[in-house]
Amino acid sequence: MKILRCPVCGELLEKEEKRYCCSRGHSFDRARQGYVNLLQSQRSSKRNHGDDKEMVTARREFLEQGYYEPLRRLLVEKVYFYTVPNGVIADAGCGEGWYTEGVAAKMPVATVIGFDISKEALKWAAKRQGMDHLAVASCYEMPLADGSVDGLLNFFSPLAAEEYARVLKPGGHLFRAVPGDCHLWELKSAVYETPKPNRPEPEELPGLTLLERCPIQDEITLKNNREILSLFQMTPYYYRTSPADQAKLKSYQTLTTRTEFTLLIYEKK
Ligand SMILES: C[S@@+](CC[C@H](N)C(=O)[O-])C[C@H]1O[C@@H](n2cnc3c(N)ncnc32)[C@H](O)[C@@H]1O
Ligand SMILES: [Zn+2]
Repeated sequence: MKILRCPVCGELLEKEEKRYCCSRGHSFDRARQGYVNLLQSQRSSKRNHGDDKEMVTARREFLEQGYYEPLRRLLVEKVYFYTVPNGVIADAGCGEGWYTEGVAAKMPVATVIGFDISKEALKWAAKRQGMDHLAVASCYEMPLADGSVDGLLNFFSPLAAEEYARVLKPGGHLFRAVPGDCHLWELKSAVYETPKPNRPEPEELPGLTLLERCPIQDEITLKNNREILSLFQMTPYYYRTSPADQAKLKSYQTLTTRTEFTLLIYEKK
């Protein structure tokens, strides 16, 4: 199904084996791995700095262990409940597509699209099953028409609320995951003298109505030092932590910590 828009003229793009092209002759090569780069501005800015190889590797290794499977199961159930089987599902900031693949497996006839600004992440996402389109694009400016998406995922990626409301169909849904106050409390306690709870994220979003709030908690036991470091590296505070504090984790071979998330489900008005 043609769904992606040409970033130059806005016409629909045809997916071919080696490229995507529009009827006006604009053409975008597909990378060897299969994704396409539809990002127009290559300037680096706060908004288009994607995850680097190290961050992507840490997250992929951690997620593959299945510790966040309860959250992924909840997401998949809710997408299945709210979205028509042949709908369009887009993942804004899909990373290496661990959640996207779970959704695609449950929705085999849906059109599933992953966007991320990081090529490193998309290289991995392209190895997964069930993705119809994978594109380098900013979630602040997705190459999609207004009102073209039935289900949109915003999992730990930037919150581009107005853009999300723009691309959703009236009656379409946004599935947004946010960490809870005490998410990874014991991991933080191993690093910081006085760990602070996460600040609650604002839940009201323009153009969207909050339908459901699904908190989900668990306790996980990391089995070795690599898993502990990978999880810490996935957190937004990793890069703000001093080398001395980071080094405290090197002595841990196992660690039990709580996980807390809320899945927020919104409907486009
Ligand atoms: C914490 S990761 C989450 C990835 C994935 N959703 C998951 O939960 O596994 C955030 C992702 O957002 C991407 N990202 C950051 N800024 C972005 C932007 N402006 N547009 C699209 N993706 C962006 C990063 O490259 C990264 O892959
Ligand atoms: Zn064009």
